Amino acid sequence: MKVAFFDTKPYDVPGFEKYGEKYGIEYKFFETKLNEDTVELAAGAQAVCVFVNDTVNAAVIDRLAGLGVKAVALRCAGYNNVDMQYAFRKIRVVRVPAYSPYAVAEHAMAMLLTSVRRIHKAFIRTRDYNFSLAGMTGFDLHGKTVGVVGTGKIGRVFIDICRGFGMKVLAYDKYPTEGLDNGDTVRYVSFDELLEKSDIISLHCPLTDDTYHLIDEKALEKCRKGVVLINTSRGALVDGSALLEGIKSRKVGAACLDVYEEESDIFFEDNSGHILDDDTLARLISMPNVIVTSHQAFLTEEALQNIAETTVNNLCDIARNDRCVNEICYRCSCAENGCGKDGCCRKSQNG
Ligand code: NAI
Repeated sequence: MKVAFFDTKPYDVPGFEKYGEKYGIEYKFFETKLNEDTVELAAGAQAVCVFVNDTVNAAVIDRLAGLGVKAVALRCAGYNNVDMQYAFRKIRVVRVPAYSPYAVAEHAMAMLLTSVRRIHKAFIRTRDYNFSLAGMTGFDLHGKTVGVVGTGKIGRVFIDICRGFGMKVLAYDKYPTEGLDNGDTVRYVSFDELLEKSDIISLHCPLTDDTYHLIDEKALEKCRKGVVLINTSRGALVDGSALLEGIKSRKVGAACLDVYEEESDIFFEDNSGHILDDDTLARLISMPNVIVTSHQAFLTEEALQNIAETTVNNLCDIARNDRCVNEICYRCSCAENGCGKDGCCRKSQNG
């Protein structure tokens, strides 16, 4: 099977080559992202492999189908960049639902600790032989209340980590996990109660129509003064301008952002020699209490291996025209566990 691999980074290649070779998958690696201008590069391929900032909209899907491409293999969990409704019965879409929830949850905690203990400041100071502690006072996480929005795979690992620190957890999820609420250290509450009672809020839900700008001006108004916001999920969960105002007004005590709404043309690239056009991001980065990482929460050895292995297995299922447990279906919303119900695109395409 020939696969056009878009938005290639040097760290993608070894894992994919290792697993691909084993199963006869031949890649053409492109540094460019997939979009309407680059879709022709997929000519001759049976599948495209894409990441979080590639564009798989109606026009791209039409062209891919026209080129005979049978599948879009996302090498990530989120699929908000794919027009799933339009893809239905035109092209199969597979993803990697879990590659290392630990990678993302541990990164969220790393950012939180860096922020509240001012490690980012200390690192720079001591390199300059400045051993002053002025302005370095942090606070204990022990005994604080953390609000976790989205208690899926990553949210639950993050909750375990927070409990290890002796924090109380308020959780919110549209579909709560049975058995997680222990009535004491972990409690499911309404979204408003979570906003009102949390010292720290960490977002672990997907980006959907429901969750777009979940944290906006109104939500921030309900938060405690000095709230610390962590977003390792998707940028558009947070209204960046509202967050900036929250930081300026001192309502928000700190923000730890691994994702940003307008990240697609900025993150993952070296823009150090360029003028940053995005004023909101530039201003956020300039704040002493904002830490931005470039969508790197997933980036561990373990996660990269799992991503390559699962994607290759997905592609093998497609090549055999088999059912694939990681196929996403718009019609029956069986993205989580597969279903094969009537109307499921998997059923209609695979018999
Ligand atoms: P998951 O599917 O296991 O969990 C997501 C949870 O969010 C589910 O429990 C679901 O019920 C809940 N949810 C759905 N709609 C909601 C709503 N409207 N309000 C509240 N909760 C809602 O997903 P997982 O693996 O835990 O990943 C979470 C998110 O993390 C992904 O959607 C993705 O956007 C992001 N992610 C970020 C990475 C990074 O490198 N920064 C890497 C991997 C994932």
